[in-house]
Amino acid sequence: MTGPPKFPSFTAKFHNTSYPAIDPALPGLSAAGKNVVITGGGTGMDYSVVTVETCSNDHPVIGIGYATALSFATAGAASVTLIGRRATQLQSAKHAIEDSVPGSAGRSRIHVQSADVVDQEQVTAAFQKIADTVGPLNILVNGAGYAASPSNVKSANVEEWWKACEVNLKGTFLTTQAFVQHKVPDDQESVILYISSGLSHVARGTGNSAYAASKAGAIRFFTTVQLEHPETRVVCLHPGTIETDVLRKSHNVSGSVPNCDDVSLPANTMLWLASPEANFVKGKYIWANWNVEEMKARAAEIEGSDLLSMKLSGWPFTSK
Ligand SMILES: NC(=O)c1ccc[n+]([C@@H]2O[C@H](COP(=O)([O-])OP(=O)(O)OC[C@H]3O[C@@H](n4cnc5c(N)ncnc54)[C@H](OP(=O)(O)O)[C@@H]3O)[C@@H](O)[C@H]2O)c1
Repeated sequence: MTGPPKFPSFTAKFHNTSYPAIDPALPGLSAAGKNVVITGGGTGMDYSVVTVETCSNDHPVIGIGYATALSFATAGAASVTLIGRRATQLQSAKHAIEDSVPGSAGRSRIHVQSADVVDQEQVTAAFQKIADTVGPLNILVNGAGYAASPSNVKSANVEEWWKACEVNLKGTFLTTQAFVQHKVPDDQESVILYISSGLSHVARGTGNSAYAASKAGAIRFFTTVQLEHPETRVVCLHPGTIETDVLRKSHNVSGSVPNCDDVSLPANTMLWLASPEANFVKGKYIWANWNVEEMKARAAEIEGSDLLSMKLSGWPFTSK
């Protein structure tokens, strides 16, 4: 579905669900031969934990990381490894992918590792085990995230505020560090994707200072990662508005959030971002809602300028 933009949009088309140009069946989006690691990939498929509190709809909430794993598995990735803290959730996700993507189970393509991304020892051990099992890594999707309970600065709980910074910044740093230590040699394609949030650059509403600041900080972190690793494509993505636990907590609601996008949109957009077609958005920050064909038509302009980069607005300071 394509509808009128809910937000100002870089492209004329503003998508709410997947569309043909990002279809995992496209040969140009094949992930064959790629080892993919997705943090926060286990949410949504353990139906036994879906309760009235966590899901008031008649469908289970499906996390963005899990949906992204499905896209990469569908596109034939050599391996997809899911990282999260809850082993049961991860196992459910693994079995759900193996059940829905033909050939996944028999070829042992789907792996899981429980780890808390803020714990260096756990992250180091998890990535060592992944690399020992599947070999050098090609693609990292940093999806693990935490939304602090909305609260204005005056009354915010400091532990809750800091937890968002720890997961969204320290956790992202640790998994990215481990990935670059285990990635394929520089002459082979490697990609780091970060699921940011529009709140990192759109100042709307109050009560989200921890989430917005940590997501914005991570964007700047990845600017440096891109400079240090020119051989790797590093891209940050606003995933759209997806009905998940993170979204409900950040909106302070226990029920449904209206007008959500379909989780297939960020999932398949990340598959596209991991393909050579997306080389022109290296080091950039895009929204999943934007049309990739319209962006491709402006590839040279995007690549050769500060377009779609985080910077001070209203001031013609260029970094090129
Ligand atoms: N939904 C949206 O509309 C939206 C919008 C903008 C950005 N995002 C971002 O999208 C990403 C995915 O979130 P989601 O919306 O799909 O929500 P979600 O289903 O709740 O996913 C969050 C994931 O992060 C994992 N996680 C949290 N803390 C962790 C930790 N310390 N160590 C390891 N894993 C951890 C969780 O697994 P465990 O609990 O098992 O560890 C869970 O799988 C997040 O970074 C979120 O900020 C979402």
